[in-house]
Formats: sequence, C-alpha cells, structure tokens
Amino acid sequence: MIVARNLQEFLQARSSLKEYSIALVPTMGALHEGHLALIKRSKELAHYCIVTIFINELQFDQPEDFVRYPKTEDQDINLLKQHDVDLVWLPRAGDIYPQNFATHIVVDGPALLWEGAKRPGHFSGVATVVYRLFSLIKPNLACFGEKDWQQLQVIRRMVADLGIPISVFGVPTVREDDGLAKSSRNRFLSREEQQKAALLYKVLKQSHQHIQSGKNICDVLKQAVEELTKEGFEVDYFAAVDGSSLHEISEWKHDSRLITAARLGSVRLLDNM
Ligand code: PAJ
Repeated sequence: MIVARNLQEFLQARSSLKEYSIALVPTMGALHEGHLALIKRSKELAHYCIVTIFINELQFDQPEDFVRYPKTEDQDINLLKQHDVDLVWLPRAGDIYPQNFATHIVVDGPALLWEGAKRPGHFSGVATVVYRLFSLIKPNLACFGEKDWQQLQVIRRMVADLGIPISVFGVPTVREDDGLAKSSRNRFLSREEQQKAALLYKVLKQSHQHIQSGKNICDVLKQAVEELTKEGFEVDYFAAVDGSSLHEISEWKHDSRLITAARLGSVRLLDNM
C-alpha cells in the first residue's frame, strides 16, 4: 500500500494506476467497520481502491467539534494495509484548499432540510471537499455510506447537476450487535449512554414496522419522539421522507426513508432506515 502525505506524492502514485478503474472512499479517519464495508464494496467494483483521510474543517459548524474529532492515524494506516487498500492519501489542508481559496459549492434541494437546516454550511463544506477530491483524484466511482443518508443524496444531486463522470454507490449501514450504527463519534459515549444509544435503532425499526402495518405516519413519528425523549434523548428530528428529495411524506412508498438525529449526552447520533 502506498501512503501519500501531500499532493505531489499523491499525484505520482496516482499516475501509476492510470490504465485501470479506480474507486475512491473518502473518509475523515478514525476508521471502523463501516468504513471497511465501503472499502470492501469498492474493491468489488474497481481494480484499485484509493482511500483519503482528511478531517475537513470546512464542514464543521462547531469549531469545538472539529478540534475534538478523533485522530487515529497510525491505527488507520495499519487497518487499511490489512484490507489491501492500494493507495491512501492524507492530504494537507493546503492540498485541498490553496492559499486564498474563495470558491464553494452551493448546495440546494436535499441539502436545505434536516442536517442542512440544523448545521448551516455543513453540506456546502461536504460538497466542496468531495468535489475537490473528485477533481484531484479522478476516480471512476466513489462509495459513500447510507449511514449518512442525506449526505449521500446531496452528493448524488451534485454529481447529476454538475455532470461529474463518476458513479456514486451507496453502501448499507454497518451496525453494532445491538443495532447502534457504527460511527467515529460513538467513542465519546459513556458506557451507560452506549447501552441506551441502541434504542434509536430499535425505535426506528419499530416505527418502520408500524408504518408498514398501516398505522398513521404522523402518530407513529410522534410516538417515536415521545419514547426517545422519555429515555433522555434530545431529538432534533424523527421524520418520514422521500429518499432522494428528503421532503416529508404523508404516505409511505418503496423509496421512502425514516431519518433521525438525536443527541445523547455530548454525542449527536444519526440514523435512518
Ligand atoms: P466519515 O464520517 O469518516 O465517513 C466516511 C464514509 O463512511 C461516509 O461515506 C460515511 O457515510 C461512511 N460510514 C460511516 N459510518 C458508517 C457505517 N456505520 N456504515 C456504513 N458506512 C458508514 O462522511 C464523512 O466522513 C465526510 O463527510 C466525507 C464524505 C469524508 C467528506 O469530508
């Protein structure tokens, strides 16, 4: 596995992979089995797998969240080696955002709701970094997790709208045995919170079943929020939406999605089904 630590090293390594199909898995590090599922999928889809580790300051709406974002670089590199990644690039901020950088991707539509409403600028930061990575790396395809459902839709929208010749693949969420979606931020949960956190998935599953069995969506959502709040979650939203536009729905269809974000202690948990 080649480890590139700046743009020059990266471009040199990238030029040796010219003739073959390349999959990109962008990450912010603190890797776990969710990230590994993306790598596994990307290796099925392309000859080569490139992983990036870059904690993108532009997408953090809270400076303290950026500062405390977990950094486990040596561990990450070892893990990537074990999983036969071909090239890992840990760009420097200046590789992605040159001096006097003043251009951002403006995202509309699915980016305005939910996470976008709660965290102004977040999806513009995500879209801008992903666009930069796409244009520097020029992969044939890229894998993103369904764990961040809205992020996946924002990226799909950007790729379609700007005519970017890269195929985007969504990979199902990897969970702990108790159902909690794996996340780099789960390490900040206390043991007690960790046990409680699994309730988010249980309530999602139960709500999904209720809707499937014909119960009124509004009532189901209300009950879900009540149950989570009673258990100490601070629910930002628990909604039934169209899977691509992220607009709220009143009737369940095959491409509908339940999405939720709730705070437990100092950690904001995101999940969907
Ligand atoms: P990060 O949180 O490191 O996640 C990198 C990728 O892993 C994303 O596509 C995310 O959806 C996916 N992922 C995380 N947890 C997962 C899980 N439990 N199951 C399946 N996939 C999972 O998302 C980002 O970084 C950044 O916003 C990024 C796209 C890299 C842009 O900076």
